Amino acid sequence: MKILAIISSPRKKHTYDAIKTIESIHKQKYDCEYEYLFLNKVDLQNCRGCHLCLTKGEEFCPLKDDRDMIIEKIESADGVILASPNHTMNVNWRMKNYIDRFSYQMHRPSYFNQRFMILITSGSYRGIKEATKALALMASGGKVVSKIGVMNSPGMNDKKREKQSKKLQKEAIKFVNKMKKPFIYNPPFGHLVWFSAFKAVYEGDTDESSADYRFYSTKKFFVDMNLSFGQKFTLKLFNGLFGFLIRIGMV
Ligand SMILES: Cc1cc2nc3c(=O)[nH]c(=O)nc-3n(C[C@H](O)[C@H](O)[C@H](O)COP(=O)(O)O)c2cc1C
Repeated sequence: MKILAIISSPRKKHTYDAIKTIESIHKQKYDCEYEYLFLNKVDLQNCRGCHLCLTKGEEFCPLKDDRDMIIEKIESADGVILASPNHTMNVNWRMKNYIDRFSYQMHRPSYFNQRFMILITSGSYRGIKEATKALALMASGGKVVSKIGVMNSPGMNDKKREKQSKKLQKEAIKFVNKMKKPFIYNPPFGHLVWFSAFKAVYEGDTDESSADYRFYSTKKFFVDMNLSFGQKFTLKLFNGLFGFLIRIGMV
């Protein structure tokens, strides 16, 4: 099993330690290959907010850096740990830049074969929920199988530390167990609705320069696969519903 840990803390402390603990739990029981990707060590330049990745396509991004190398690493991993410290009730700026640089994957998802763990380390419980929610979006079409907040507040006593350590152990095992099973992508209901909505938006459009139009007009679904009757029906139903809402100006 190949696991890629993407870490946005610039220092090797709480976030790094939490991942190292997970790695050692995994390596005690399973044959795992770990790779660490530190966002402060790769060339991922700051998003300029030009919108070109969203509108024309990610290949038009003016920043030429390690973005595609990161994508290749994610795609060749079975599991990905996205890890950030909580900075002011959210992910830190490096991880926020990562989120913005890959924002186009919220329009045109990928990573359908990957399983994700979202890990936030924090001085207190405040902000863990917000940071986790922001970061979980970066799984794109992949499945988030584990979410964990790891606290290092000065008020942590032995009992709380013990409880946290057990939770980390449990989540680490859960994450790896999901990867052990042969993975067959079975579209969740949310993906069927997601696809239907975007497809409906771009159905009335014929703008060849729009990346979303090109993506949705050529696809029956995100992944080329045999969908069941129920799944096809759901796609049709929601496509019709969104189409109607668009026509009456409600979307
Ligand atoms: C700029 C900054 C902002 C922070 N904001 C919060 C916060 O809002 N809530 C919190 O509980 N901890 C906060 N912390 C503490 C870190 O989340 C916590 O110590 C984290 O585990 C640090 O991870 P690291 O050691 O991997 O860098 C903040 C730390 C920094 C440096």
